[in-house]
Amino acid sequence: MGIESSAHTFGVGIVENGRILSNEKSVYPIGNSGMIPIKVAEFHNKNADEVILRSLERADVRLKDISGIGYTMGPGIGPCLKVGMSKAKAMANELNVDIVPINHGMAHVEVAKRLSNMRDPLALYVSGGNSQILKLDSERRHYLVLGETFDIGVGNMLDSFARKIGLDPAWGSSVAKIATGGKYIKLPYTVKGMDFAFAGLMTKAVELSKRNSKKDVSFSLQETAFAMLCEAAERALLLTKSREFCVCGGVAQSERLKAMLESVAREHKIKFGAAPNEFNADNGAMIALLAERVLKRGYGVKVEDCDYMQRYRINDVEYLAD
Ligand code: FE2
Repeated sequence: MGIESSAHTFGVGIVENGRILSNEKSVYPIGNSGMIPIKVAEFHNKNADEVILRSLERADVRLKDISGIGYTMGPGIGPCLKVGMSKAKAMANELNVDIVPINHGMAHVEVAKRLSNMRDPLALYVSGGNSQILKLDSERRHYLVLGETFDIGVGNMLDSFARKIGLDPAWGSSVAKIATGGKYIKLPYTVKGMDFAFAGLMTKAVELSKRNSKKDVSFSLQETAFAMLCEAAERALLLTKSREFCVCGGVAQSERLKAMLESVAREHKIKFGAAPNEFNADNGAMIALLAERVLKRGYGVKVEDCDYMQRYRINDVEYLAD
C-alpha cells in the first residue's frame, strides 16, 4: 500500500507484483484562497480512513493482506506529509509489516517510466511545486537534476496567474481552457542552459491581462512557459544522448505540453511517453509501486525511524529500486 499526502491530494494505492489494484484519492478543493497548510492537513485527516477503506475495497483485499507500506516522505507541505506518515506508521505497527519512506518526485518519474514502458528515460518532472529535468545515474544510484526552475514550479505559476486574473484556479486547467484559440503576445522568455524561470513571466502576464484579452494572455503564457520547458529538455536530451523521454507530474496532464514535447522527441527520433493522467496527478499508486520495489530489495526502515521532510531533493536520495 502506498500513501500520498504531500499537498492537496490524500491518495492510497495498492499494488501487487507491479500491478496496480487500486488508486483512490480525495482532493482538497483549492477555492480562491489557495492551500492553507493546516486546513489541507485537517482535510486529509478527516478523509484518510475513508480513502484507505475505499482503496482496499477497490483492490478487493483485506487490511491484513497488506504486506508492506510506503508513504511520501517529501518534498511537500509539512502538516500534510505528517498526516500520511502517521497513518502509514500506525498501520505498519498494527499489521507488523515493513514500511518505507518514498521521495515524491522519484515516484512520479518511476510511475511514468513504468507505465510508458521505458528503461532509462530523460524525465521532465512538472508539477505545482516542482519543475525539473532528471536522469538516473545508475552507476552512482541516484537521480541527477540536470535542469530546474530558478523560482516557482510551472504548475504554481499557472494557478497563481489564474487566481490573479480572476479565473477559477482549478489546478492549471482553467488557463488551458481559456487559452484555446488565443493570439500570441510576446512575453519574457527565460532559459539559461537547462534551467528556467517563471516568476517574471507570470508578473508580466498579469500586467498585460489588464489591457489585453484574458484568452490571448493565457494562450501566450502557456505557449511561452511550455516552449521554455521544451528548449531546456531538448538541450538535456542532446547532452545525455537519451533515446527515451518522458514527462510526469501534475502538469503532465496538459495535452498541449505533451504535444509540444512529443514534437521535440519526434524531431530527434526519440521515444516519448507519459503515464495516463490518473497517475500524473498526485496519487497513492505511484508511491505503492516504488515502495514495493524498494521493500522487495530489503530496504524497509524501522517505524520509529520514519520521518518526513518538507525539502527532500531527489538528488539527495539513494536509488534503491533496482
Ligand atoms: Fe506531485
